[in-house]
Amino acid sequence: MAKERIKDLLERGVADTDVTVEGWLRTVRHSKNVSFLDISDGSCMAGIQAVAAPELDNYETEIGKLTTGCCVRVAGRLVESPGKGQSYEIQAGRVEVVGYADEDYPLQKKRHSFEFLRTLGHLRMRTNTFGAVMRVRNAAAQAIHRFFQERGFIHLHAPIITLSDCEGAGEMFRVSALDPEQAPRTESGGVDYSQDFFGKEARLTVSGQLEAEIAALALTNVYTFGPTFRSENSNTSRHLAEFWMVEPEMAFCDIQGNMDLAEAFLKGVTRDVLEQCDDDMGFFNQRIDDTVLETLTNIVEQPFERMTYSEAVNILQGSGRSFEYPVSWGVNLQSEHERYIVEEHVGRPVMVIDYPKEIKAFYMYLNDDERTVAALDVLVPKIGEIIGGSQREHRMAQLRQRIRECGLPEEEYWWYLELRRYGTAPHAGFGLGFERLIQFMTGLGNIRDVIPFPRVPGFAEF
Ligand code: 4AD
Ligand code: MG
Repeated sequence: MAKERIKDLLERGVADTDVTVEGWLRTVRHSKNVSFLDISDGSCMAGIQAVAAPELDNYETEIGKLTTGCCVRVAGRLVESPGKGQSYEIQAGRVEVVGYADEDYPLQKKRHSFEFLRTLGHLRMRTNTFGAVMRVRNAAAQAIHRFFQERGFIHLHAPIITLSDCEGAGEMFRVSALDPEQAPRTESGGVDYSQDFFGKEARLTVSGQLEAEIAALALTNVYTFGPTFRSENSNTSRHLAEFWMVEPEMAFCDIQGNMDLAEAFLKGVTRDVLEQCDDDMGFFNQRIDDTVLETLTNIVEQPFERMTYSEAVNILQGSGRSFEYPVSWGVNLQSEHERYIVEEHVGRPVMVIDYPKEIKAFYMYLNDDERTVAALDVLVPKIGEIIGGSQREHRMAQLRQRIRECGLPEEEYWWYLELRRYGTAPHAGFGLGFERLIQFMTGLGNIRDVIPFPRVPGFAEF
C-alpha cells in the first residue's frame, strides 16, 4: 500500500479506501477497548485520527505503550468519521512503531510559550503554530518566485561572501580562515589579511543589491532571494542577525516604477498566500491575531498611500502626539513614527519616498533639491518598515560625491563606479525582509518565531 501525505488523503476525500500514513503522534488516548492516535505529518494543519482496536496483534505489546511524540506508520481503511471536528478517520489494520518517544518528551499537549519553544528548535516544528509558519513561509517563497518569473525577471544568485559593504553601515560579520591566536601581523601590528584566504578582509553580505545592479545593467530585470547577515546589536522583535532578503533590481526604472512594483509585489504575494494557505491563515487569525485576515485582505484590495518624507514629518508634527523620539526634518523615522502614520493616520500601507540624504545609503539617487534622495520605504501595520529601496545614483559625478560624503573608501567600490562609465542607465530596486513579511502575514509578534532557526545576539543554537 503506497503511503500518502495526510493533506492529499484529506483532499482526495474518498472514504472506504485503504491508506497508509506516517507521522508523529500529537496526542494519544487509550481506553479499555480502543486507542485513538492523532497523527500529524506536517503536510497540513489537520492531523488524522487512527482508531486501533485490541484485536491488533501488537495492541498490548506496542500500541498500548504509545505516547505523544512517538513516530508511527499506520495502514488501514479510510472511513467517514463519526467524531466531531474531522471528516475522516483511519480504522487501523496495522500500527507499526517507527520510533518511541521518551516519557520526558517536552511537547505534551498544552500551550507552550514561544520563548520556551525557542529552546526546542529541534522539536518546535511539530507544533501547530510552527508547522503553519513553515507552510506559510514555503507558500510565500513560491509566490515570490512566481511573481517575478511571470514578469520575466531573472533570478540572480548573489554571493554570500563579499568584500564590499553595501549599506556602508559597518555591520558585517568577518569571514576568515586565519587562526585568531596566531594571525600574521602587518608591520603596524594589525592583522595581515593579505595572507588570509581571499587575500583581503572578507565579510558576509548585508545585501545582494550591488551585485543585483551589475546584473540589471546586463539583464534588465533581475531579483535575488538569499540569506543576508547583519551584526547590528539590535535585540528587538524585528531584527535577526541572519535573515532572507528578496531584492528586485530593474534597469530603465525610476522611483515611480519602483513604487509600482513594490505595491504589485506585496499585493500579488499576499493574494497567493491567502489563497493557498486558508487553514493555516485561519489558524493564525483565530489563535495569534484576530485582525490578520482583515489586514491582509485590505493589502490586496486597497491602494497603498504614497507620500514624501517631508509630508510624513508634517503629519507627525501636526499629530499632537508626544513621541519618545521627537520629530523634526532630518531625523530618522522610528518605529513609533512609522506605526503612527500607518496605523492611525492612514490605516493601510504607506510608501514614503525622498528622505534626507544624510540618513540614507550612499547609492541612492540625489534629487534635484540636493537635500533628499530617491529612497523608498514601504511601511505596513504592526511591523513598520517591511521594504527598503531606492532609485540608484547612476551618474558618476554625483555617486563619487556621495561616496566621499559618506566617508567610504572609493577604491573598494571601483567596479560599482565603472558601471557608471560603461553604459550607465537609470535603475532602481528594493529589498523585502522575508521574515518581516512572514511576521506580517502570520501576526506573530516576534521575528524569531517566523524563521526556522533564528540567529540573534547571544543565540545561534541548532
Ligand atoms: O532597508 P534595508 O537595509 O535595505 C537594503 O539592504 C537595500 N540594499 C535593499 C535594496 O534596495 N536592494 O533592508 C531591506 C529590508 C528592510 O526593509 C527589512 O524588511 C529587512 O530588509 N531587514 C531586516 N530583517 C530582519 N532583520 C534585520 N536585522 C533586518 N534588517 C533589514
Ligand atoms: Mg531600511
